[in-house]
Amino acid sequence: MKAVLAYSGGLDTSCCLKLLEDQGYEVISVCVDVGQPEEEIKEVEEKAKLLGAKHYTIDAKEEFVKDYIFRAIKANAQYEGYPLSTALARPLIADKVVEVAKKEGAEVIAHGCTGKGNDQFRFETAIRIKAPNIKIVAPIRDLNLTRAEEIEYAKKKGIPIPSESKKWSIDENLWGRSIEGGELEDPNFIPPEEIYSWTKNPAEDREEEIVEIEFKEGVPIAINGERLGLVELIKKANEIAGKHGVGRIDIMEDRIIGLKSRENYECPGAILLLTAHKALEQLVLTRDILRFKELVDSLYGELIYKGQWFSPFREALDAFIDKTQERVTGTVKVKLFGGSVRVVARESEFSLYSREMVSFDEKDLDQREIAGMVKYHCLQDLLYYMRK
Ligand code: ARG
Ligand code: SIN
Repeated sequence: MKAVLAYSGGLDTSCCLKLLEDQGYEVISVCVDVGQPEEEIKEVEEKAKLLGAKHYTIDAKEEFVKDYIFRAIKANAQYEGYPLSTALARPLIADKVVEVAKKEGAEVIAHGCTGKGNDQFRFETAIRIKAPNIKIVAPIRDLNLTRAEEIEYAKKKGIPIPSESKKWSIDENLWGRSIEGGELEDPNFIPPEEIYSWTKNPAEDREEEIVEIEFKEGVPIAINGERLGLVELIKKANEIAGKHGVGRIDIMEDRIIGLKSRENYECPGAILLLTAHKALEQLVLTRDILRFKELVDSLYGELIYKGQWFSPFREALDAFIDKTQERVTGTVKVKLFGGSVRVVARESEFSLYSREMVSFDEKDLDQREIAGMVKYHCLQDLLYYMRK
């Protein structure tokens, strides 16, 4: 029997690989490249070989940016202050794993999620929609394993354990890096510098930098006037913002099952691009749309978090969002320094700002005509208090 395993090369999924083998499966491992460090992809391949699995690496970086990250930007997607980096990649990984399972004629798809987190929901929901009849197994959850038990098992099976995975559990893709577990599980423990790898210590920033982001119809197309490919653009955003320590996030997060968990993220590019995108929306969207979109955006963020990516709800929200983004074209300048992103300038051919009208030095708008508008402002409130 063939089992296709969503394989990251980490501790959980490496144990899964061997556990599946123990259960008599022929294991096919799939690593979906959504922008993990390049060395890591190689290591995953070598590890799969060492552990005796047939392995696939699938480059999904472009698709991740085009169909996932760009939608998240248009929706200003966040959940409790987290730009959803891990959450956003899960449905795409599931989709690619399903493709391999179909090609291989596998009976089973396996993932390495625990029964405590969110990823089990995201993977399984997407897999069930893409391949309703395939069996899903989650060996870590099924055996109720702890991390210490996994390390024990890994040693027994000759699975190499990277030194940092003894300390933290890390997940990385183009949109950000998540670090959790170990000492970080104490919400009162201050994270040491060593948990970070994409961001410099903000306290060591010496020089501020102004960065210009150009958007077309809601998505970034250039940085500092340089047009970049999709993947390059996101990498560049991470690099520039990371240099200034932007995007370190330390929050108490409400997981799907209701547990609170302490989460650390570094999402420099995401924070840079989301901040700039929102500033451009403020310039070109009407007050009504901005207000309604805030609700849509928050539902969108929650939907990504909950693993509801493949759903009619998302399709419907996307239809609204895409309509609003038709005019989100222009440039935004932000100042990066010491961990912060501050918007300092914006410009658009669709700007709803009228300097001629708003300026105290101009006569384009005749102030006298506003007097009548002011007089009857909040008319119903006046009537309410007049009726005793
Ligand atoms: N709590 C985050 C989420 O649900 C991140 C999980 C990251 N996983 C990890 N193995 N570090 O999206
Ligand atoms: C896991 O528990 O499997 C990883 C983290 C998560 O799903 O939130």
